[in-house]
Amino acid sequence: MAQLIGGVATSHIPAIGGAIHKGIQQEPYWKPFFDGFPPIREWLQAKKPDVMVIFYNDHGLNFFLDKMPTFAVGAAQQYVNSDEGWGIPSLEPLRGELDLSWHIINTLIDKEFDVVSCQEMLVDHACSLPLKLLYPEGNYPVTVVPVCINTVQFPLPKASRVYALGRAVGQAIADWDSSKTVAVIASGGLSHQLDGERAGFINKEFDLQFMDSLLTNPEWATQFSIHELVEKAGTQGVELLMWLAMRAALTAGAGAGVRKVHSNYHIPISNTATGLLALEKTTY
Ligand code: DHB
Ligand code: FE
Repeated sequence: MAQLIGGVATSHIPAIGGAIHKGIQQEPYWKPFFDGFPPIREWLQAKKPDVMVIFYNDHGLNFFLDKMPTFAVGAAQQYVNSDEGWGIPSLEPLRGELDLSWHIINTLIDKEFDVVSCQEMLVDHACSLPLKLLYPEGNYPVTVVPVCINTVQFPLPKASRVYALGRAVGQAIADWDSSKTVAVIASGGLSHQLDGERAGFINKEFDLQFMDSLLTNPEWATQFSIHELVEKAGTQGVELLMWLAMRAALTAGAGAGVRKVHSNYHIPISNTATGLLALEKTTY
């Protein structure tokens, strides 16, 4: 059976791609953000995952407001990365992991999550930036399965539903008939609001409570409705649903415990409160 080693959650502000491109990671504005990553890269280098299942939200690149699946899973040999308008460099196409894609899709449908399967799917900064941050040298040693969760066009899926989806994805990974190792990635959040009267809104107290809950009481955020989450984290901060899916995936299989590898929180990068959290799945 495949081995699920743990998960990493990170913010995905497009400007990060610009900073990497310009090589300004050590400048005072960026350093507190980029300094969070080396301990997590070391952990990944030790664990050497073969595959990353990436929970992310598309920002209008592959799905636009006219056709918006609630949950969509990639089932392609490769995923072309493109920039939906931020002016950041694109990655080489991400390599798919077809067998796991279909295993996840079959498992989810069997568990009554009626997902859209995508045999062709462009992926935006939410998929490419975590890979750039985790493998800065550029040779991405992983294949990917993108799992897209709608956080941009109402109605959004409830936190409790996203948690259940994440758990089912984790179960699918744990019983995938493969000798490969798998990590789950969450891309998005934490609190931010890019438009409207509350543009620039950040909620440090809520963010830190949410990050803490993922260790102490993973279902804590499922008590909130989507409107409550938007109120607490901002219209785009609701991307924190990806973190919830990642954490739920780690509850699957034998030994549902986790240990914190490393975390970081820094305000702001662009309009966003940046969060970073790596969790290792333990056997007790
Ligand atoms: C920003 C944050 C995001 O999550 C995003 O998708 C785009 C922009 C920002 O803070 O600039
Ligand atoms: Fe975003």
